[in-house]
Amino acid sequence: MTAGTPALLTVDEAVDALRAALRRRTRVLAGLTGAPAAGKSTLAARLAEAAEACGLRTVVVPMDGFHLAQEVLDARGWGSVKGAPHTFDAAGYVALLRRLRGEPGTVWAPEFDRSLEQAIAGAIEVGPQVQVVITEGNYLLLDGPPWDGVRPLLDLAWYVEAPDELRRQRLIARHEHYGRSRSEATDRALGTDERNAALVRASRGRASAVIRVE
Ligand SMILES: Nc1ncnc2c1ncn2[C@@H]1O[C@H](COP(=O)(O)OP(=O)(O)OP(=O)(O)O)[C@@H](O)[C@H]1O
Ligand SMILES: [Mg+2]
Repeated sequence: MTAGTPALLTVDEAVDALRAALRRRTRVLAGLTGAPAAGKSTLAARLAEAAEACGLRTVVVPMDGFHLAQEVLDARGWGSVKGAPHTFDAAGYVALLRRLRGEPGTVWAPEFDRSLEQAIAGAIEVGPQVQVVITEGNYLLLDGPPWDGVRPLLDLAWYVEAPDELRRQRLIARHEHYGRSRSEATDRALGTDERNAALVRASRGRASAVIRVE
């Protein structure tokens, strides 16, 4: 493997990698990144289920929980680019990952509620017995501070890749599902989402492996 061309991994191999990493430590942090609607959240849930089936206590902690509040975005005129890197509390996310690595007690994580379009604090419990934390989001492998603080806190970092046309179709369908018109959904998917996708794609080479999903 050379820099910029991570190896391909199947879901089963990813579960094996979690198990192998747990032989060396009591808790493993695995990150899933990829472009908008690549299937990160879906794959995180699937991996968590597979890990639980192997007897591993597993929790998913999404980066999306660190969306800035809508009121804050509106006050700054950032509503139209919600989802861009500067519309997240990236330093807060890094701090949470650090706590998940080192803190002996329960750590509470926020989650993003898509129907409210807002993050909710204290929604996900990560108890001291949790062995696998799967964190997932767009910007886990971005260059430059504060995002570059994420990678050193992950034991494993995987890039989720779906065929681009399928990914865009799913993105448009999801925007419509949450109340946008067809043309608003398309504009969003091909505008701000596509700019974000380009940023994420540029971080692909920092992943330890790529998981292709359909
Ligand atoms: N294997 C699949 N088969 C069918 N639909 C899928 C599959 N994987 C994901 N989807 C659908 O595609 C959409 C995007 O998936 P998902 O939410 O997992 O992506 P994501 O990478 O987490 O997106 P985001 O970056 O916006 O958080 C969702 O509507 C999901 O239901
Ligand atoms: Mg998601």
